[in-house]
Amino acid sequence: MAQLRGEARQRYVADLFSRISPRYDLMNTLMTGGMHHRWKRRTAALAAAGLEGPALDIATGTGDLAFALAAHRGITRAVGVDLLPEMLSVGLHKTRKRGLQDRVTLLAGDALALPFPDNTFACATAGFSLRNMPDLSAAIREMVRVVRPGGLVTTLELTPMDRGLKARLFRLYFHRLVPLMGQLVAGDRAAYTYLPQSVDYFLQAGRLAELFRQAGLVDVAYVPLGFGTVAVHHGTKP
Ligand SMILES: C[S@@+](CC[C@H](N)C(=O)[O-])C[C@H]1O[C@@H](n2cnc3c(N)ncnc32)[C@H](O)[C@@H]1O
Repeated sequence: MAQLRGEARQRYVADLFSRISPRYDLMNTLMTGGMHHRWKRRTAALAAAGLEGPALDIATGTGDLAFALAAHRGITRAVGVDLLPEMLSVGLHKTRKRGLQDRVTLLAGDALALPFPDNTFACATAGFSLRNMPDLSAAIREMVRVVRPGGLVTTLELTPMDRGLKARLFRLYFHRLVPLMGQLVAGDRAAYTYLPQSVDYFLQAGRLAELFRQAGLVDVAYVPLGFGTVAVHHGTKP
């Protein structure tokens, strides 16, 4: 399933995330030992550094990265957009529980056709979602379009590891234990079998940086986190 492209991929991904939405947050915390919160805070800090204005988080899911963006002084409002009402309803519940209605807005929308004019946001982020896009380059170009000149596009994504002992241990964990956890905790082994497979089919960090440049971003760089299992890419719209 991880090799699906275009419409077929979008349908598969939409069905998968609507099924696992009630257990999505819990599974993220279990799989990463809680580290995903730290990675999202780091991503938001890199995205918002020195900027003023509204921030956008595409494919926001249950909203964590939008909440992390809203915590930054220069960010006037964080807007999260996701395709699926099931994921957004978990995020809306969290927004109300944290009393963040004045700082965070979560909306239904397609990352490939964002419902915003050009040059709207100080920065745009995407967390663990580029891998799931039916057209990766189009998703990056769309983030670039809605960011103001001088603004930042920043993404947090799992990244295929090089060879070596660390990579072998991680593969064992990701391909054997994670599907089992998915079965026991989320009742969905198939969804958590797709997850490691989608990383195998994804780009190495250097190649993703190249796509950022091809989308017109400058000063592109990336920071590896989580022992090289994830990377935060960032680039500036000239
Ligand atoms: C792995 S989750 C990531 C959620 C969140 N960003 C996070 O870091 O936890 C992937 C999300 O991408 C969303 N998604 C997939 N395709 C999309 C699209 N074309 N437009 C908007 N959201 C999309 C799914 O609904 C899902 O919520």
